[in-house]
Amino acid sequence: MSPSPASLDPPSLEALVESGMIELESLHPGGLLLTAELADLCAISTGLKVLDVACGTGESACYLAEKFGARVCGLDRSEALLARASDKAGSRSLDIQFCRGDAATLPFPDGEFDVVVCECTLCLLDKMSALSEMVRVVRRGGRVGIHDLYWDQAAAGALRDRLTANEGEEPETFEGWKRLFERGGLVAVAAVDRSELKTRWMRDVRGQLGLAGQLRLGVYATRRWGFGGLWRILRSEHLFSNRRLGYALVVGTRP
Ligand SMILES: C[S@@+](CC[C@H](N)C(=O)[O-])C[C@H]1O[C@@H](n2cnc3c(N)ncnc32)[C@H](O)[C@@H]1O
Repeated sequence: MSPSPASLDPPSLEALVESGMIELESLHPGGLLLTAELADLCAISTGLKVLDVACGTGESACYLAEKFGARVCGLDRSEALLARASDKAGSRSLDIQFCRGDAATLPFPDGEFDVVVCECTLCLLDKMSALSEMVRVVRRGGRVGIHDLYWDQAAAGALRDRLTANEGEEPETFEGWKRLFERGGLVAVAAVDRSELKTRWMRDVRGQLGLAGQLRLGVYATRRWGFGGLWRILRSEHLFSNRRLGYALVVGTRP
């Protein structure tokens, strides 16, 4: 019998969060502190229309609406995470539009938003197509901001190749992200190194799970994806800890 599609799913962070095996709301290093820094760099303020591409559980979308007074729209491909995001916004009486869609073809007209953000996801996508879509839907003078992994040039191609093979992730170097933004048509591009948050985040997630949680996660992963899946999670953790892998905020303006 051929395996079911679910058993072929990679053991991604969102799959583990959707299953309840990992209880996280912000699915990125630095949590809402980093979201606040991104919001400041993107000059998000009351009444601005903001799109959060790949919004996950809606944690950042709710935060941007609640703390910055932004009019937020969140888009993600995961139905389960969007349901969770809508419940969260509802329970806080926040008027946020969540919609299902693909970052590669955003279902919005040109220039619809003042700011477009994408947290910890661009390196999973076809970066230039997704970035072009983000630039298309932001107005002239509006900002596009992300935070994501970057790899150290000194690590040569080996680390990047392992990341791509194991995770399907293709980060740029720190300078490479800036060049990508410029090639995408953005100006006044700035990047900030926040690699220290990546290390702290891993420690926090491990601490939150505890030994019992890590064992439960191991059993779950083996049942769902077989030993190959468990091995892949262990390798992911190992790769993510690599000191040659950094974390950066990148912001640019549409001229
Ligand atoms: C690492 S999580 C980050 C979630 C959220 N931005 C955060 O930082 O908490 C990656 C997210 O990207 C979403 N995703 C992956 N590929 C996507 C695509 N092509 N279009 C839209 N969402 C996508 C996943 O469903 C998941 O919610």
